[in-house]
Amino acid sequence: MSDDPFGSRAYYDRLGEAERDRLVRDAPARASLEVHRRFLARFVSAGDRVLEIGAGPGRFTAELASLGARVHVTDFSPVQLDLNRKHLEGTGAESAVTGRDILDVRDVSRFDDASFDVVLAYGGPLSYAFEDAEAAFAGLLRIIRPAGYVVASVMSMLGTWRHSLPGIAAVVDRFGDELNDRVIRTGDLRHLPGVDHTCRMFRANQLRELVETAGGRVEAMSASNWASLGDPATVAALEAEPSRWAHFIENEVAACGESGTLDGGTHILVAATHP
Ligand SMILES: C[S@@+](CC[C@H](N)C(=O)[O-])C[C@H]1O[C@@H](n2cnc3c(N)ncnc32)[C@H](O)[C@@H]1O
Repeated sequence: MSDDPFGSRAYYDRLGEAERDRLVRDAPARASLEVHRRFLARFVSAGDRVLEIGAGPGRFTAELASLGARVHVTDFSPVQLDLNRKHLEGTGAESAVTGRDILDVRDVSRFDDASFDVVLAYGGPLSYAFEDAEAAFAGLLRIIRPAGYVVASVMSMLGTWRHSLPGIAAVVDRFGDELNDRVIRTGDLRHLPGVDHTCRMFRANQLRELVETAGGRVEAMSASNWASLGDPATVAALEAEPSRWAHFIENEVAACGESGTLDGGTHILVAATHP
């Protein structure tokens, strides 16, 4: 297996600290963070042993700690793993961390069967596994205990198209309709030569199929955001009023769990277990 075949480690090494802003940079991002937090809380209990894959700078490491889990922190990028240490050291969350290692989601062979209550891979590690995603997911299922969960989020094809329309228009300008159509069909950004960030975006039905082909059962799915990707000024105004925001988030989280919205956010969340 090549070391960094799709360039995701190099990309996140370069991105460095900027990754930390992703889920807090504006109101829609903070809505997405809330959806991720609440989804995670459904599957993690105090005392759980959790393997976090692609932990990045540690937003969900801290979240796992606050849920009372013990967390083995891993990332493919040494820069992100260092940032995780830097941001958690000196906080109460660090005492929940049982270790920190470089790990590629495609190879969890170092862990015994049923080693963890939960494996968490938020923010797309599986979107960087491309053809190996199914084998990778089977590997994650192998290392959770029988009633454990794999909780993950991947990039969404249809939601990204909706949310990043100017970016898609720029792709058409630069590469033409044929390549853009190929990306829309496959979700695979490797079709665009020379782009800085390649990943595989999924449709919700493809993610479900991935889980099932890998031998798992889908327990729950969610879009990462829905109404909060609408008019930014309206979303910001809602956030400025805490009681309206709290109500909006309740509705947003509920809507994201409906089948009709699963493809409508920037990411798709899944919790899977053994059949
Ligand atoms: C978008 S960040 C998500 C960080 C964090 N989980 C979050 O949701 O805030 C994606 C992370 O996946 C890591 N990653 C990329 N390719 C990976 C791979 N093949 N195996 C494991 N992690 C990978 C990156 O280094 C990066 O830290």
